[in-house]
Order: sequence, then C-alpha cells, then structure tokens
Amino acid sequence: MALYNDTVMEHFMNPHNVGEIEDADGKGTYGSPVCGDMMQITIKVDENDTITDAKFKTFGCGSAIASSSMATDMIIGMSVEDALAVSNKKIVEELGGLPAVKVHCSVLAEHAIKSAIYDYAVKHGKTYQGLEGFDPDAEEDDHHDLEDAEE
Ligand code: FES
Repeated sequence: MALYNDTVMEHFMNPHNVGEIEDADGKGTYGSPVCGDMMQITIKVDENDTITDAKFKTFGCGSAIASSSMATDMIIGMSVEDALAVSNKKIVEELGGLPAVKVHCSVLAEHAIKSAIYDYAVKHGKTYQGLEGFDPDAEEDDHHDLEDAEE
C-alpha cells in the first residue's frame, strides 16, 4: 500500500533548495503546534520584488520535507505578493495530495514562507496585502480547511 505518491516521494528522497541563504533578505522560522517540528525558510528578493532564491531547513517528517521542497520550488521566480498567496492547500495540490493526517506538515511551509516575507517586509519598510495582522510567532489558526480532514 502506497501512502505517499511518487511526487511526494521524489521530493522527500531528493529535496530541492535545501540549506540556508547566507545573505538572505528574509528569514522565517515556524514550529508546528501540532507536532513540534520546525521549518526555516530564507529568501532573496530583487529590486522588482521578485523572489530570486529560496532555501529551507526542516526538522520534521518526510511530508514536511516534501512540502518545503515543493513550496520553495513554487515561490522562486514569483513576486512577493504571489508568494504570499501560496497556501498549504496549493502546496498539497502541487504534491498531488498528502494523507489527511499529514496535511498539517504542509502548513509549516506556508507559515515559514509568510514569516520569511514578513521579515523581509519589516527590514525593508514594505507592506503587502496578505501580511496584515500576520504574527510570525502566533500559533497556527484554523483557517486551513484541508486540516479539517485530519479530524
Ligand atoms: Fe511534524 Fe510532519 S509530523 S511536520
């Protein structure tokens, strides 16, 4: 019985964008209130507000590694505003699905991206739609409809 599809397995076995950008423009870390696992994402942003590079370090399970690999692939080349719209649901869709009990792992990636962009925005005096009210230290809310499938 295959619990994980080929895309998830491929990103888990050969994750993309692993590591930390030394002179990052933004750096975000998020710890899951569900399992205690951690994810860090660092980003480089050019003068046009385009994310030119992203790297991750994940102290978490295979689904978190696959989610962060996919999420960093997705946001490289995106504008900051488009990256803010990358939800955990979109990450799971790109991965071709995750088992319901593992959907919370993809939330780490969404939140770590937002945290990295928040750090970038604060350091550069910028404001973005989608960041209003965002608190990088807040516990995850329940706005993730896919998470409901965990129950
Ligand atoms: Fe913690 Fe997957 S179980 S991130």
